[in-house]
Amino acid sequence: MKHLLDLMRKRQSARTLFDPKKKIAKKDLKKILEAGRWAPTAHNMQNFEIIIVDDRKILDAIANIKNPISLTFVRENYKQLSFSKEELKQKGTGILGAQFPPSWRKPNITEKDIARDDHNSFMGEEIKSSPVLAIVLYDFTKRAPASEGDFLGAISLGCVMENMWLMANSLGIGFHILSALSEGAIEKKLRKMLNIPNNMKIAYSFRLGYPVTSEKYLRVRRPVNGFIHTNAYTTK
Ligand SMILES: Cc1cc2nc3c(=O)[nH]c(=O)nc-3n(C[C@H](O)[C@H](O)[C@H](O)COP(=O)(O)O)c2cc1C
Repeated sequence: MKHLLDLMRKRQSARTLFDPKKKIAKKDLKKILEAGRWAPTAHNMQNFEIIIVDDRKILDAIANIKNPISLTFVRENYKQLSFSKEELKQKGTGILGAQFPPSWRKPNITEKDIARDDHNSFMGEEIKSSPVLAIVLYDFTKRAPASEGDFLGAISLGCVMENMWLMANSLGIGFHILSALSEGAIEKKLRKMLNIPNNMKIAYSFRLGYPVTSEKYLRVRRPVNGFIHTNAYTTK
């Protein structure tokens, strides 16, 4: 049990370039997908398909898709940022500002500001450096009974994500979620490029690889008594 909790504590986002020459061994990829396979899903509907992209030409084509970051994302992100390690530790939620481009770290950000720090180019480099990019498709025809809106389906996809993430990290493989590939223009282009059927939507994508740096970043969580309510909800 200690081992499992250790693994959960150490699991982390690999927001870094990967060594493109270090491939993911087939047997390791198989283990990661096997972990996803055994994830719990609502009504055991297994409402997902996964496209594994390891062809360099396709990876480069995906990396080159232009997808400017939305102003709404950057503005809402700003409200949740911490500007020092002390602030982040105290809040226990959110992300350190230093992990984002400089223009994202100022109030009243404009379109012009974000155009200066081209989000696309850094995400593109991350994708180009990845030996594997996995695209997880949400199949909305495989909905659990009486789950209109399919909140349960979304939770199921999260279970698949966590199983694969833990397995990847246990094998020493970096894992990085990229939500941006599920949105707007980029999703539209990917649908065409990867032949994604109409009854499916890109839920999330993740890159796998061996990080080129072993740099650690501050990871925080609320304490257990920050979210536990005994017998009834109490305002903290
Ligand atoms: C549903 C979901 C979407 C996420 N999307 C992104 C993303 O687009 N880019 C990214 O760098 N991290 C993404 N993350 C990672 C979270 O930001 C990260 O898990 C959180 O900050 C805690 O850091 P840790 O994973 O290192 O513990 C996502 C995580 C989840 C569960």
